[in-house]
Amino acid sequence: MTFNPLKEKGVPLEKQLRSWHDIVKRPFDKHSVDCYSRTRQILMNGIEVEAWNFKHNLARICPDREVRNILAMSRRIEDMHQTTVNWLTPACQSVLETTLGYEQVAVDLTSWLAQNEPDDYVRETFNFGLLEDFDHLYRYSQWAYMIHGISPDDILQGMTDVVVGRPTQNHHNCNVARLRKHYDKNTAAPQTKVNILTLVSGEQQTHNYYAEHGMMYGNDDLRRMYGEICDVEEEHVTMYESLIDPTESVWEKLLLHEFTEVCTYYNCYKDEIDEKLKAVWEEFLAHEIGHLHVAAELFKTKEDRDPEEVIGSEVVLPCHFEAQKTYVTDILLNEVDKRLDGSDDMGYTTIDKLPEDWASYRIQRAVNADGAPTEQAIRLISTSIGRDLVVADKKLINKEPDLIKRGLQPEAQAPNTVTSDEYEMMSKVKPAEL
Ligand SMILES: [Fe+2]
Ligand SMILES: [Fe+2]
Ligand SMILES: [Fe+2]
Ligand SMILES: [Fe+2]
Repeated sequence: MTFNPLKEKGVPLEKQLRSWHDIVKRPFDKHSVDCYSRTRQILMNGIEVEAWNFKHNLARICPDREVRNILAMSRRIEDMHQTTVNWLTPACQSVLETTLGYEQVAVDLTSWLAQNEPDDYVRETFNFGLLEDFDHLYRYSQWAYMIHGISPDDILQGMTDVVVGRPTQNHHNCNVARLRKHYDKNTAAPQTKVNILTLVSGEQQTHNYYAEHGMMYGNDDLRRMYGEICDVEEEHVTMYESLIDPTESVWEKLLLHEFTEVCTYYNCYKDEIDEKLKAVWEEFLAHEIGHLHVAAELFKTKEDRDPEEVIGSEVVLPCHFEAQKTYVTDILLNEVDKRLDGSDDMGYTTIDKLPEDWASYRIQRAVNADGAPTEQAIRLISTSIGRDLVVADKKLINKEPDLIKRGLQPEAQAPNTVTSDEYEMMSKVKPAEL
């Protein structure tokens, strides 16, 4: 049975106010929560931040009094949604534990989106970013162990692998080279539009989380690593948002924002196994259907077009979470040496074909000049347990030296780079028992 949100009643905007006791709920238990309930909670926080932010930015450029009134009322609801969702995080969940949750979202969400993306170029871009967040998860896992003594599986629960990806020191690109070709608003599928907006929201929130929390640790190496990866997330926001057609009108964008909220809450509600969280997703889905009706009416008035021309006549599923190990391993083994080509074609290439004057070399030489903090993490943990911390199938773990050999650029390397030979040495040490 299909679900057409434009045909559903939902809750009207004026009936969406709740009490403080309802807005600020008891948090989940970090020991018993399902890892994918946590990823839904992390993602939906990002979706709400984007919804709130977009409405503020729109209000600042919109002189229409009636529209300003609508935006003022509805963004307050978005903000209340955000508080409810984000504050389900328990106070005892450390910054690094939450960080592992953020990167688990990135890896398993991007994998899901890539496999459900009808546009080949957009899918290729998702796969490209996937291997970078996969490497972030590996680097942060080292620190979660060194600082809090935890196994990555305390958070990931065995659903997501932890091994080296495309090395983070190679993620620092010329920001112009990150820009991608945008879809065509007239021909792109609603699934493509929702997929991209979902991922942009998630990556933006990841950036904001690192920017706001990386300083909460005293260790310089860890602080620098948050700074390094925060900057990659800025590149990710730049890359994914550039896929969006900039010629969409603001009314079309508002419609797509509310539709994305509807689709993500619908998907969360459909999948949720935690009763308390499921009730939140259900209630906010009904609110978002209310928002969608408001946006659809505005779209009809301003554009004299049918909203279904933009969002279609049924929800799409942009955020189903499940283990994606096979998919990620496949992309890892095949695309670890992939790079942005830096040309006007906005395509991709491989390390061996990079020109000497590749624009990203200049960036990498500058930012990695005193060593890459993400390499330092491996140096530090190897002095303590003799090797890096990994959680994956033995066959994949054994491929680490080869992945580094193929995935690391010979040019513009950080002076503290852990080499393939060093990985070979580390591979002789039994992985830590976690
Ligand atoms: Fe919302
Ligand atoms: Fe990341
Ligand atoms: Fe990312
Ligand atoms: Fe909304």
